[in-house]
Amino acid sequence: MQNKTKNTQKHGQRDGFATSLGVIAATLGSAVGLGNIWKFPYVTGENGGAAFILIYLLCLLFVGLPVLITELVVGRKAKSNAVRAFKKLAPHQPWFLTGAAGVLSAFLILCFYTTVAGWVYSYVFKAFTGAIYVTSAESSRSIFDSFITGWEPLLWQWVVLVVTGTVIMAGVSHGIERVTKFLMPLLFILLVLSDVRALTLPNAMEGLKFLLEPDWSKITGTAVLTALGLSFFKLSLGMGTMITYGSYMGEQENLVSTALKVASSDTLVSLMAGMAIFPAVFAFGFEPDAGPSLLFITIPMVFSSMPLGRIFLVLFFSLVAIAATTAMISLLEAPVAYLTEERGWSRKKATLLTLLAVALLGATATLSFNLLAEFKLLGRTMFDFFDFITSSVFMPLSGLLGALFVGWFWSRKELEAEATNGGALANGGIVGIYYNVLKYVVPIAITIILLNGLNFF
Ligand code: TRP
Repeated sequence: MQNKTKNTQKHGQRDGFATSLGVIAATLGSAVGLGNIWKFPYVTGENGGAAFILIYLLCLLFVGLPVLITELVVGRKAKSNAVRAFKKLAPHQPWFLTGAAGVLSAFLILCFYTTVAGWVYSYVFKAFTGAIYVTSAESSRSIFDSFITGWEPLLWQWVVLVVTGTVIMAGVSHGIERVTKFLMPLLFILLVLSDVRALTLPNAMEGLKFLLEPDWSKITGTAVLTALGLSFFKLSLGMGTMITYGSYMGEQENLVSTALKVASSDTLVSLMAGMAIFPAVFAFGFEPDAGPSLLFITIPMVFSSMPLGRIFLVLFFSLVAIAATTAMISLLEAPVAYLTEERGWSRKKATLLTLLAVALLGATATLSFNLLAEFKLLGRTMFDFFDFITSSVFMPLSGLLGALFVGWFWSRKELEAEATNGGALANGGIVGIYYNVLKYVVPIAITIILLNGLNFF
């Protein structure tokens, strides 16, 4: 196997996804992440349940999906990393900066995503040992607070980096594809088990009501903006990752249907996560919440209160660890692909040096709760700064430029040829509609996301 990889590289062929199932597993692995667990379900419950889900689906259809298709198409057409992709399609023009913004933001996201992933890994371990098996809110909070203000999280961040780096060093088909093909079905099984547990608790209906009961009065401008931003973040757009993954997809893959499958499965995972969380939260009389306090304070209490809770606590955190890991794999691949192709570095060297850089810069995010608690950039701790600069600035900016490039500057003919596999697929009609949405709807929608993220409204 080793020899085969070496040989293909020697002959100048790029590594890529070997099977269609691998394409879906890897791409869905990138989309499914912490967002499905701590963002989507809570935001849905707070903003009108099923009514919000409908708005979210519309945002997916008119913004998220077109941008996802665009990134996959650009990647596969150019067959190169996110920076060179634009250099190839638009030689001697500054469009490559779009890809550069993406790769840079993938790197910056890694700096704080690995902090949270480290917390999750440690909670898998703590669930095993029973250290987080407590039923009172104060104990659960003080366990979390003393954990993140200590030094242990730094070690867990390194564990995360080593795990992710090991997969990336093994290559695209032998590493990313093989691992996500195994982990994604496992994640699904754990999710089903957690759902069965939560939905068979007494009073489960109340949680389902929180998640799903439509409340149209909550559909305000803010809710729509939230749905827009969420559709973008959920599909890992504007970070060079989907361009990079697209470049590994074979000529016979149907990119439009891949994007559709990924977007719909990702939404299903979010809903199933919500169904595992809220029925349990309500069954034991806790308050629904979002973000770190939902995951690291409420969830341990909730699971500690239920029959077989100790086992399910381990299962649940393993599920979250898998989601975070497959997302990080795609994040790391974007800069590694850039460094190997643009700088001519070996995969090993590119991975190790990126990890070293993330370890150094990412330590400032991890220590935002410890040594660097008082250190602020733009009024934010380093942890919040990385989150803000990527989610609110780079991600929409890179996505917007990518959409403008494909909609207004690239040739429509080439785009259509790539999206229909040279006319072999009978999806010309859909591609035509998609092109118009991309050209007119997407730029306006992303500009609104951008201005909203920068607090213009
Ligand atoms: N989609 C991921 C989630 O839901 C988060 C994310 C945003 C991401 N951008 C990304 C993951 C880029 C990988 C690559 O948690």
